Amino acid sequence: MSQESIAAGAIAGSIRSEAGRGQWSSRWVFFLAATGSAVGLGNIWKFPYITGQNGGGAFVLVYLACILAIGIPLLMAEVMIGRRGRANPEGAIAAVAREAGASRHWRRIGSLAVLTGFLVLSYYAVIAGWTVAYTPAALSGSFVGLNAESSGALFNTLLADPWRLTAYGSFVLLLTLGIVAFGVRDGLERSLRFMMPGLFLILLVLVGYAATTGHFMQAVEFLFAPDFSKLTGKGVLIALGHAFFTLSLASGAMMAYGSYLPAGTSIVRTSLMVAATDTTVALLAGLAIFPLVFANGMEPGSGPGLVFVTLPIAFGQMPLGALFGGLFFVMLALAALTSTISLSEPTIAWLGERFGMGRVKAVLLSGAAVWLLSLGSVLSFNHWSEVTLFGKTFFDGLDFLTSNLMMPLGGLFTVLFTGWVMKRAIAAQALGLDQSGAFGLWWLAIRWITPLAIALMFLHSLGLF
Ligand code: PFF
Repeated sequence: MSQESIAAGAIAGSIRSEAGRGQWSSRWVFFLAATGSAVGLGNIWKFPYITGQNGGGAFVLVYLACILAIGIPLLMAEVMIGRRGRANPEGAIAAVAREAGASRHWRRIGSLAVLTGFLVLSYYAVIAGWTVAYTPAALSGSFVGLNAESSGALFNTLLADPWRLTAYGSFVLLLTLGIVAFGVRDGLERSLRFMMPGLFLILLVLVGYAATTGHFMQAVEFLFAPDFSKLTGKGVLIALGHAFFTLSLASGAMMAYGSYLPAGTSIVRTSLMVAATDTTVALLAGLAIFPLVFANGMEPGSGPGLVFVTLPIAFGQMPLGALFGGLFFVMLALAALTSTISLSEPTIAWLGERFGMGRVKAVLLSGAAVWLLSLGSVLSFNHWSEVTLFGKTFFDGLDFLTSNLMMPLGGLFTVLFTGWVMKRAIAAQALGLDQSGAFGLWWLAIRWITPLAIALMFLHSLGLF
């Protein structure tokens, strides 16, 4: 690549014009969108329960280290590649590889990311459906008087009913695709502008509510006082895997969103803001949930049922529990929806750009396919509970395939591509940095720290050591 064309790219931060594609109307909207993608069931449902299961403070510390050392550098790389290539993940990587004079086969990393996002969406929508089921139940006071047994039964009855699960999951998918069909500005941007502030507001109200229980400090201590004797090797790997999931990495979402980023926006600053907000929301979710759990004398380590079984018992016993319980599940549904929107975008952009399909047609086609696949997850909780994938139920198998195999592998190839295939000067320019200072630190992380850490995690998750 000639000096002139590098210089020309320096202005735009990308090698393609954005003509004909959507674009966020500002840096602020990109921040809302990327944060909406990052903040989801992972923060409010999964983070508190894996923290509870892995002993609290020490786990949180390791998780924070993973976000800093691996999550943030990779997030920057994905957004950068998206903007540089101004296309869906496959097309963007192909364009950046072409610029570097590298093989076009690197684009397969992008295809893998698109597929990962598609698969995650199929089961994520099913869990998001649970939040839709729980919202009216909470608001109508159904949680009053629940005990461990009846709350467990309420949840199990939902899981045992494929029709209800299908109805709620389909509702989430319809809503998601209905929004996405309107495109980047009229669909995604318009909905995110009110969903995200709504989510933050509810979260703050809930933390305030939790602070009135008198058990707030116990929760603070549980989350922030590290007791390393409770941390296991497996816990470290769970923290690392969660850093991927919670920042929506290696699933095409951040690359697709980066491809709509206006030129000249600082990728470093916005990525740091997204990661910081995502982490803050996870911690605040812990501060909203654990005081209620402790106030009602319940166990923090109850696993996936923490939010759907333990928490309803707490809401059922507390003053104004119906209102705050309802708000909690509305918040969870909003968080899930802003994530499902981002999970669907890579496939839709890919269908549109790779096959020249109109947006609505791409939405219908991918929607039909993901809906069919979601039925597999629905059935895995009832009729197909004996059917196995990787020795697990279909739902758990898909989660394992995506979170433990496809994401680490995709993330590994993405950092190798960025650090070893892209030229240093071009990477610096695509990020909008000169080649010293902060860039040097990021480059070191991308070339050495992230690939080694991800490789270790990957090998471990395969049981190779
Ligand atoms: N980051 C989301 C969460 O924490 O719930 C999940 C997610 C969204 C993963 C989008 C991957 C993705 F592309």
